[in-house]
Amino acid sequence: MDPRSEVLLRQAELFGGKLLLAGLPADDLLGHLPGATGWSWHAGEQQLLERRFAGRCSFGVTPAQADFEAAVLFLPKSRELTEYLLQALAAGLEGRPLYLVGEKRAGVERAARQLASYGAPRKLDSARHCQLWQVQVERAPALPELPALAQRFSLQLADGPLEVISLPGVFSHGRLDRGSALLLEHLDGLPNGRLLDFGCGAGILGAVLKRRYPQSEVVLLDVDAFAVESSRMTLAANGLEGEVIAGDGIHAAPRQLAAIVSNPPFHQGVHTSYEASEALIEHAAEHLLGGGELRLVANAFLKYPPLIERHLGPCQTLAERDGFRIYRAPRG
Ligand SMILES: C[S@@+](CC[C@H](N)C(=O)[O-])C[C@H]1O[C@@H](n2cnc3c(N)ncnc32)[C@H](O)[C@@H]1O
Repeated sequence: MDPRSEVLLRQAELFGGKLLLAGLPADDLLGHLPGATGWSWHAGEQQLLERRFAGRCSFGVTPAQADFEAAVLFLPKSRELTEYLLQALAAGLEGRPLYLVGEKRAGVERAARQLASYGAPRKLDSARHCQLWQVQVERAPALPELPALAQRFSLQLADGPLEVISLPGVFSHGRLDRGSALLLEHLDGLPNGRLLDFGCGAGILGAVLKRRYPQSEVVLLDVDAFAVESSRMTLAANGLEGEVIAGDGIHAAPRQLAAIVSNPPFHQGVHTSYEASEALIEHAAEHLLGGGELRLVANAFLKYPPLIERHLGPCQTLAERDGFRIYRAPRG
């Protein structure tokens, strides 16, 4: 059981009614709270929850429009995303309680101050390195308009400007990551065919791929519903077509790809995780056509080349700058 769920269950009498659990972990909590419904924006957790509690958790960037007696937000990593989520939840809770639970090291105490826009926050519990806060919503806000919260910026790229639309919580919200910038300079010579942008974030790599290789079908995949939505918005803003998929890890990607291009993930909430990136390297060959190619940017200190050579074939370093390297590995 996630420690945040354990903290909620210490006060189970508060959570017996029709409750919305936003950003809930993929654990047993729904089994303990029969009146509760989940809302997840993480495709992997949603899949696990769907398997165990079919039909009890929705996936997407907006909460289900139902009349909840209360809602709990499991603190996400980004402050902007927290702001959006609290507002989206508080909008439907006039006169009712909104709870916030999170790990201390994830900054729950600071985030609890964001509750003050809706009423007077109270700390209800502190245990398992987590805190539980509550606010009785006295000033319900209007339902937030997600597009209005997006950051829109224009990247001046070698092949012309690219409009980027990045929603709260999406990777490098509002600017171009240095690793991605280097990868954008090294997208030449990819094989023709279906191309995948794995871990697409706001869709920058996928959009540039489509512009560079207009004959190619481009697929963009991310685990996060806000990234998926941002990628759709970025493609549309540039008049580009692409298939955007919500999915957890390379297993969710289509097969028979000509190339997989990625600035792969390495953070999961407050924890560092290379799991999805290592799985990408280990299983890329299953998703590539013969002669297909994996092209990655990674921190130079990560020991990816031996892993790539073990699972795919010879790995070439195309470039190195600012502590990042571009790797290219054709499927043998
Ligand atoms: C380093 S960012 C790159 C974003 C974007 N491609 C760019 O260059 O700006 C990695 C992305 O991978 C996504 N991600 C993390 N874990 C994932 C997983 N298991 N499956 C798919 N995508 C994942 C994150 O949500 C994030 O958007």
